[in-house]
Amino acid sequence: MKNILTIVGARPQFVKAAVVSKALSEIGINETIIHTGQHYDYEMSTVFWEELNLPSPSVNLEVGSGLHGAQTGLMLEKIERYILNLESKPDALIVYGDTNSTIAGALVASKLHIPVIHIEAGLRSFNREMPEEINRVVTDHISTLLFCSSNEGVQQLEKEGISENVFNVGDVMYDAILTFSEISSRKYSLNDLVQFGENEFYLATIHRPSNTDSEENLNEILTAFSNIDAPVVWPVHPRNRKKLRGKDVPRNIYMLEPVSYFKMITLLKNCRAVLTDSGGLQKEAYWMKKPCITIREETEWVETLHGGWNQITGASKEKIVNAVKTKTVTIWKPLYGDGKAAKAIASELNEYFKI
Ligand code: UD1
Repeated sequence: MKNILTIVGARPQFVKAAVVSKALSEIGINETIIHTGQHYDYEMSTVFWEELNLPSPSVNLEVGSGLHGAQTGLMLEKIERYILNLESKPDALIVYGDTNSTIAGALVASKLHIPVIHIEAGLRSFNREMPEEINRVVTDHISTLLFCSSNEGVQQLEKEGISENVFNVGDVMYDAILTFSEISSRKYSLNDLVQFGENEFYLATIHRPSNTDSEENLNEILTAFSNIDAPVVWPVHPRNRKKLRGKDVPRNIYMLEPVSYFKMITLLKNCRAVLTDSGGLQKEAYWMKKPCITIREETEWVETLHGGWNQITGASKEKIVNAVKTKTVTIWKPLYGDGKAAKAIASELNEYFKI
C-alpha cells in the first residue's frame, strides 16, 4: 500500500479533499492529511470538516494569517519539519488549486524529492498580480502528476512545455456538488437561512484582495448591489469584515457570517443569479444552472462564458448593474467532466504507483 500525504489549508480545498479522500480510501491508498491552518475560524474551517465527513487531519500546523511571505514561509518550515519527522518518507504529496498552502506543500515536497500531485492543474488567469496565479504556475512546474479540469488546462500546460503525466479528469468540485446536493437539501430549507423565497434574491461573495483591499472597488461593488432589482444575500469572508466596518451598507444587502458548504449549496439552488469574484462559485453556479456575474477583470474558467452563463464585469458599478439587467442564457452543456473526477484520479494514481 502506498502512503500519500495531502496538504490543505483553505476552504475550497476542504471541499475538494472530501471527495478525493473517499476515492483514495476506496482504492486502498493510505492518506495522511495535513491542515496548514491558513483558514482557522469555525465557519471557515471546522464546519467543513464536520459536514463533509473529512478524515481528521493528523496535524494542524496553525499557521494562521499573515503577509504572503511570512505565511508561506511559516508553512514551508512547518511542513518540512513534519515530513522529516515521519517514520517513512511519503510516496507522493497531493496539493489542490492555487493557495499559499498549495505552493508551500509543493515546494517542500519537490525539494525532498517527493513526487507532487497537483489537482486543478493548468488553470491560468494570465494576471500575475493575483497571488494565486503565481502559486499555480510554480506548482504546475514542479509537479510530477497533473490533473486538469478540462482540455484548456491540458493545452495550457503543453504550451508551457509540460506534457508528461498530464490528465484531463474533470473537476472534483463537480463530484462534490453532485455528492452533497441532496444531503444539503435534506439538512436545510431556504427558510432556515434567509427570509426570501426561491428566485427572490441574488447570492454574492467577494474575497479577492483586488476587490476587498481597494476602497474604490469595494465602493463600486456596494453601489452596484444597491442598484439591482432584488435583495442581495452576502455571506461575508473575514477579509471583508474589517474593510466593511463603518461603511454605509445599502438596505437591500443582507450580510451573513461565512456559511457552510451545505448552506451555500442551498442558497445557490434558490437564488436568482450569482455575483462573485470566487473561482469555485463560478463553476458551481454553472452546474446549478444559475447565471453568474463575475466581478473580476478575467476568469480562469473561460468555458463558463459560453451562452451568457457567466459575464465578466470587473468592479464597475455600471457594468455590474447592466450585466444583471441583461442576463439571458442560452444552451447549457455539461462542463468539466462527468462528476467522477476523484475516481479517475485515484485510478491514475493506482496505475502510476502500481499500488
Ligand atoms: C485564500 C486563497 C484563495 C482562495 C481563498 C478561499 C491564497 C493566496 N489565497 O485567500 O486562493 O480562493 O483562500 O477563501 O492562498 N481570515 C480570518 N479567518 C479565517 C481565515 C482568514 O479572519 O478563518 C482573514 C485573515 O485574517 C486575512 C484574510 O481573512 O486577513 C485572508 O486570509 P488568507 O489566508 O489570505 O486567505 P484568503 O483571502 O481567504
